[in-house]
This record gives sequence, structure tokens and C-alpha cells, in this order.
Amino acid sequence: MRTPPPAVVRAVQSLSGALERAAAGLKPPQARFLEVSGGVAAIALMRAAVRTRLAEPLAIGSRTGAQVAEQLGLHAPTVHRVLRGLAVYGLVRLDSRGRFSLTRTGRLLLEGDPHSMAGWVRYATSDAVLAGWLRLPETLVDGLPAFNAATGTSMWEHMAAHPDEEAGFARTMHELTLLAAPLIVAAYPWPEHGTVCDVGGGVGAMLASVLRERPTLDGVLVDQAGPLAAAGEYLASRGVADRVRTVEGDLFTGFEARADVYLLKDVLHDWDDDKCSQVLRTVRAAAASGARVLVLEWLQEPNVAQFPVSISDIMMLAQTEGRQRSAAEIQALGAAAGFRAGRVIDTGAYGVVELLAA
Ligand SMILES: C[S@@+](CC[C@H](N)C(=O)[O-])C[C@H]1O[C@@H](n2cnc3c(N)ncnc32)[C@H](O)[C@@H]1O
Repeated sequence: MRTPPPAVVRAVQSLSGALERAAAGLKPPQARFLEVSGGVAAIALMRAAVRTRLAEPLAIGSRTGAQVAEQLGLHAPTVHRVLRGLAVYGLVRLDSRGRFSLTRTGRLLLEGDPHSMAGWVRYATSDAVLAGWLRLPETLVDGLPAFNAATGTSMWEHMAAHPDEEAGFARTMHELTLLAAPLIVAAYPWPEHGTVCDVGGGVGAMLASVLRERPTLDGVLVDQAGPLAAAGEYLASRGVADRVRTVEGDLFTGFEARADVYLLKDVLHDWDDDKCSQVLRTVRAAAASGARVLVLEWLQEPNVAQFPVSISDIMMLAQTEGRQRSAAEIQALGAAAGFRAGRVIDTGAYGVVELLAA
């Protein structure tokens, strides 16, 4: 599928947002209120569906709840009710004979779907992440990162102590990154030659997308041991493993990787301003003069409320020590770490904020 130009992406987003607001405005406030508060049911239904693989029997055609239950060894009347609930949110269709089928959106619940978002649901509804969400009222009072206060560890310490969750998170990030990567790859004038280093790059989804676009570039992937353990297989699956060196490194204490372009995709949004400055100083120490850093994030202007960036900002509040920032805020952090501001490119979804190493 061809990547639509940023202006088209922005126009579609703005039109669909306007239509949704107009539709919401037509409803009585109580009805709209109940609809919004039903979001808790949506996420609980998706969690149950992914954990029991409820969508799998529907992958090849429509089935009744009883047939799904029999195949999966579940409780038939409850399966019917849960699938009917998922139908309310447009993930499955229910016909008048009681048969369910997957919608295009519902197919993303399938683990084996090439565009699967099952990993995202697993991560977003894990016990630890939910604990962070539940602590938000206290965070409003004390401002402490909700996840850290609820679990006693940072997200990254928690991941390191739970390798299954760490692997699941790395998978999730690569699912999400693959959604944005085509827009980012299309929007930026990548060099023809040299090295791109993806810092905190997970299994290397963003890096692989860039390298596939530029067959003459080499890559370095920097992350912690957990994500790197899965990176080899992933990079091989995308046909770029022979051009990527993996480096176990730390965002704060350092890593060795000389590159022409450094990527920080969805890394700074995990950290507060002080830690972001440290991360940028670490990258500056690794980089030679003339190198570029591309901060790839959803850009949040202080007084603009929009999906998904403002909701991602709340996720950062619940799960990390960070937040979404504007391009100007990122440039100010860059300046404190010795970078000049370069281009800012709006891909229609992600922003590309270029920082230049003097
Ligand atoms: C939100 S994920 C982003 C992954 C990837 N850039 C992407 O967008 O798909 C943040 C990444 O930072 C890595 N990370 C967290 N703390 C780190 C540290 N102290 N040193 C190196 N990497 C770290 C995590 O392992 C994870 O891969």
C-alpha cells in the first residue's frame, strides 16, 4: 500500500475528528457520558478476548458463540455475551442467527495477523499497567509517576524483572512502530550512505524500515539485553540483519556507536526533562560533530487536545516518568545537551524533530 502524503493524513484526521465531534454533539449529554464511560468495558472485553484467543476460531469464518466455546473449551453462554459486547465496539459482527464474524478491526485481535495488535492489548491491560492507571487520582495530588508509585519500580525495572512482559512489550512496540514507520520513512530525506543508529530501538522496527528504504545504509541498534535478544530474528525477518550491528548500551551511562543519524523514537517521552537531557548528552557523547539526531514522537502542543497524542501523554503519566512534548520543548532539551535545532517535519502523525550536533 502506498503511503499517503502528510497533508492527506492530516486532512483525513481532521475531517474524521470533526465528524466524530459533530456526531457526539447530536447526542444527549447523558448518553454521550455513558458511551465514554463504557470505554472501561471495551478494554476489559479486548483483554479477555486476547487472553483467551477468542478471535482465533472466527479467523476462517463465522461461528456461533457455542462453536467458539467448544473449540476453545470455554463457557458457551458467556462466550456469546462477550462476543456480543465486542460487537458493540465494532470488533465482531453478530447476525440474526447468532453467528459472529470478525470485522477488519477485529482481525487485529488475531495473534497471527500481519497487522496484529494483540500484543498491544496484552501490554496495555497487563496487571502492572493497570496498577498505574488505578493510581492516577493520587498522582494528581502528588505528581509522582503513577506506575513507579503503584509498583515500587520503574517500568523498565519491572520489564527487566519480568522477561515475558519485556518480550511482549518489545513486540508491542514493533507492532505500533510499524504503523508509523512508513510515514516517517517517506517524510524524511534519508542519506544514501552512512550509518543510522536507533537508540532505545527495541527490536529494531524503525531501523529496519529505514534500511529497507535505503539499501546502501548500515545500522546500529542500541538497547538493553532483553529487546536485543529478540532483535536478531526480527531483523532477519525484515531482510536487514546483515547490515545491523547490535550494541547493548544504556541511555544514561553510555554506549559506543558512531553514526551519521541517530534515531530516538518514543524514547524521550518515557522520561522527565532531567533524564531526557541526560539521554541527549549520552547521544551527544557517542556522536561526532555533524551528526543528526531525529527525535520521532507525537508532538503535543500545550493547549491542543487531540487523539492520539494527548491520550499517549496520559499513558506516559500512568506508565512512565515522561510525557509528550512539543517540537519547541524537544529543541530546548536538545540545546541544553549541545544540539542546534534543525528541521521539524510533521508526517501527519509522528513529528520528526531534527537536532544537529555542533
Ligand atoms: C517506548 S520503547 C521504544 C522502542 C522503539 N524505539 C520503538 O519506538 O519501537 C523504549 C525503549 O527504550 C529502551 N530503554 C529503556 N531504558 C533504557 C536504558 N536505560 N538504556 C537503553 N535502552 C532503554 C526500552 O528497552 C525500549 O526498547
